[in-house]
Amino acid sequence: MIDNDTSRGTGGFGEILVSSRSLGEYQAMFALTEDDLGRRILDCPGGAAGFTAEVNQRGGDVTACDIAYFDRGIERVAATAVAEADRGNRYVREHADAYRWTFFADPDEHHRARRESAEHFAAHTRTSPDRYIPGQLPTLPFADNSFDLVLSSHLLFSYADDLDYDFHRQAITELARVATTEIRLFPLVPIGSQGRYEQLEKLLAELTLVGISSRIVKVDYEFQAHADEMLVCELAT
Ligand SMILES: C[S@@+](CC[C@H](N)C(=O)[O-])C[C@H]1O[C@@H](n2cnc3c(N)ncnc32)[C@H](O)[C@@H]1O
Repeated sequence: MIDNDTSRGTGGFGEILVSSRSLGEYQAMFALTEDDLGRRILDCPGGAAGFTAEVNQRGGDVTACDIAYFDRGIERVAATAVAEADRGNRYVREHADAYRWTFFADPDEHHRARRESAEHFAAHTRTSPDRYIPGQLPTLPFADNSFDLVLSSHLLFSYADDLDYDFHRQAITELARVATTEIRLFPLVPIGSQGRYEQLEKLLAELTLVGISSRIVKVDYEFQAHADEMLVCELAT
């Protein structure tokens, strides 16, 4: 995928995408239950995902946080979200063999879903800009224990070539600081790789020393080939 931010490297995939996954994709990749969706949730990085819009419109309580909201300003992220969905889809078409066509039947369906999600995001930023907070991992602008559940998709582990081991350790520790109960991260497979982030075992061992225990959970979602596991970090209360 070409998801990333220009100022932090690109994993060799060109300028970084601010991607727009939907509530449906989040439910599948994070195995979210209805109970989970009723919790105070942080989505970091939120990118241009429709998740925050869709859950808040159902009466939920989700906040999105992303460095792009600083770099580009939320209005500009909203204005370019659909074009970013087009750009992401072009990449997927060019590399269709690197994807499993089960969640999406084909590249056309992927394109429709991501565009729709980008439109949801853009509309919601206009009515509820307070739900989109600029922030840069590994330092977030939230008090300790501000959220019950923190979700983090397609940044950590995905960009292993650009984000070093210390960044991963600090970022997860920071996500844990702002959560009371649990963090879920997806996927565990770097872009262009066929297996888990190489330093995952070492990282998880180090995190246990600061009270963050974790388990790897297989989920019923695989789009990037081989990426069908999430990391669940449970926090000592
Ligand atoms: C591929 S997108 C994922 C967005 C969303 N989670 C999704 O799945 O659609 C990656 C996002 O990470 C953001 N990002 C990159 N570095 C970051 C950092 N240090 N702190 C917060 N966000 C960052 C980018 O701006 C981009 O929106």
